[in-house]
Amino acid sequence: MNKVNGSAVSRKDGRAKVTGTATYAAEHQIPNLVHGYLVTASIANGQIKSIDTSTAEKASGVIAVFTHKNPPKIFKPTNNFMTSKIYEARLPLSDDKVYYAGQIVGLVVADTFERARHAARLVKVEYATEKPLIDPAKATFKEAPSMFGEGMKFQKGDFTTGMASATAKMEVTYKTSTELHAPMEPHATIAQWQGSDSLTIYEPSQWVMGTQRTYAELFGLPKERVRIVTPFIGGAFGSKAFPWPHGILCAAVARQLQRPVKVVLTRAQMTANAGHRSETEQTIRLAATADGNLMSVEHDVKSCTSLVDVFTEPCTGITPVMYAAPNLRLKQELAVINTGTPTFMRAPGENPGLWALESAMDELAWKLKMDPVELRLKNETKEHQRKGLPFSAKAFSECLRFGAEQFGWKDRPFQVRSLTRNGKLIGWGMAGSTFPGGRGAASAKVRLLPDGTAHILTAANDMGTGAYTVVASTAAEVLGIPVEKVRVDLGDSLLPDGGLAGGSMMTASLLPAVMSACQEVLKSAKAKTAEEVFSSLRQSGRAAVEATASSAPGAEGKKWAFQSWGAHFCEVSIDEEIGRLQVTRWVSVMNIGRVINAKTAASQVRGGVIMGLGQALMEECHFDPNIGYPVVYDLATYHFPAHADIPRIEVAFVGEPDLNFNPAGVRGVGEIGITGVSAAIGNAVYHATGKRIRHLPITPDKLL
Ligand code: MOS
Repeated sequence: MNKVNGSAVSRKDGRAKVTGTATYAAEHQIPNLVHGYLVTASIANGQIKSIDTSTAEKASGVIAVFTHKNPPKIFKPTNNFMTSKIYEARLPLSDDKVYYAGQIVGLVVADTFERARHAARLVKVEYATEKPLIDPAKATFKEAPSMFGEGMKFQKGDFTTGMASATAKMEVTYKTSTELHAPMEPHATIAQWQGSDSLTIYEPSQWVMGTQRTYAELFGLPKERVRIVTPFIGGAFGSKAFPWPHGILCAAVARQLQRPVKVVLTRAQMTANAGHRSETEQTIRLAATADGNLMSVEHDVKSCTSLVDVFTEPCTGITPVMYAAPNLRLKQELAVINTGTPTFMRAPGENPGLWALESAMDELAWKLKMDPVELRLKNETKEHQRKGLPFSAKAFSECLRFGAEQFGWKDRPFQVRSLTRNGKLIGWGMAGSTFPGGRGAASAKVRLLPDGTAHILTAANDMGTGAYTVVASTAAEVLGIPVEKVRVDLGDSLLPDGGLAGGSMMTASLLPAVMSACQEVLKSAKAKTAEEVFSSLRQSGRAAVEATASSAPGAEGKKWAFQSWGAHFCEVSIDEEIGRLQVTRWVSVMNIGRVINAKTAASQVRGGVIMGLGQALMEECHFDPNIGYPVVYDLATYHFPAHADIPRIEVAFVGEPDLNFNPAGVRGVGEIGITGVSAAIGNAVYHATGKRIRHLPITPDKLL
């Protein structure tokens, strides 16, 4: 396995993060700063009849109060993924309607946070309330629109004949609950204007240049007049790629007031106003021959969006990728309900999609009396059945085989309720894992300095993934210097475009640019190593030599499908008397091309497994069916795993560098870890108890 494993240098930003010196958006010290506090709707559907701001305006320290009656000037952006996406198409305060509970209906600006918060509570709003539609069971589902130009509907072969000719058939429906991103760092924006035509935004951003373009469009500026600063991000998981209404409003009022304004969301506000993963209902129909060859796969998905934008949880994306079947049919439907807008959340689509498909594969294996690893090996597909292209550097079967070996899978009794330990039921489960390999254009600058250090500058970002570290080690390798001698600056739109940290794309996009820039700087100095350049700098008295390089995907995507693979194996221990479930053992084997940093890559997989464990066992955001308000509003009411919930997670990597994909041979690892986790746990629960639980999370009440 050594051929794919890179070094294991520790995080460049680790010390800064644990000692509190890493500066997050809300922590930037800006002179003359004032504080905005959101006023949010207490109903989920209706209209504002009256809004009285007079008491709030008179409160101590209050500078201004904004509502739909005096909205600050904001232009409508094109709201396109590639140019200027905002998370919610409706601009804040743009009408008197309430589309979901917690929607922003005002902003109070005061000299301190506490005074702004106090005055926000003095704003009196009267509503004409209508009954909200919250329950998807009562909603109307329609065919989902396409995303990124790709339709959601797909069919190949003759599904009906495939179904009829098979021996083993099944139709099952799985559900997932509304989930929240719940990053440690709350959403926050500081907006500082220099006059009316130059704006600096401090905001956690997974996409520095995208956010720059969007704010530029929102305020009618050339993008060069907007600077985005985001050196550190405390977790994002998809919720910090584009501006949300609170950030837009913050920037708009800062311009009008000509004062720097800071808006920080409370945990309760994050629940309503910063995205979530929609609940899903998925029906899977499988048909197979008696010896386990899949004949037909059908996947019908329902998810929900808001009244103010369209987002489909794209679960059918994985179905043509996982297993070969001559007949395949996909359907994706969407309904509109009175919630905030759902959005990308770690492995959007792949994650809930694999919960359904990998649970169904387990059910089929039991039906066929086949080992679930065998069933998967038997049906592996060499090509992407939708694109009709072969996979590049695919090692899914190695993940399955090596994972089974590491876990000791061959000792699993093929019978439910057959393992016990200390009076508890023990179950073993497994599931496959996948995520597409994505890559975009990126640029980086390198500077070699006479003090013997190299400085890499790029407007990429590190949301906790290890980007600082892999950029440093890649530069060190090409330049032939120790990693400690490399300084990395990220997260500032003044630097060359570092690409998007989304869709697990950053490493594959950025490292080829870093490699090129480092090769370029040596070439331009006619040197073989950086040491030669350093001594020539010292002799000549020059300050630095530098080079900038860009890298982008070429035509390889027409020849190959790029996809990462994995397999999870786990053990659960269940006390049936009280419904207590403990995950006691975990093995994940991943195939992500070349592993740049064995330590940070394994951490990404572990983080994904932990988040998947939360999804499997505890995470759910309920809405009050009558008033439509989320009844989850902080990190005490939104349960996610604590250390005591997590076993030791063994992570291994297999496969070859994916050099068809990019010169670094790397595919991203940010999202794949979460995919398949909940299915592996559900499958282990079945093995332990004989109960097939098809609705996540698997809370104690479902195990009694
Ligand atoms: Mo990811 S959900 O593309 O940040």
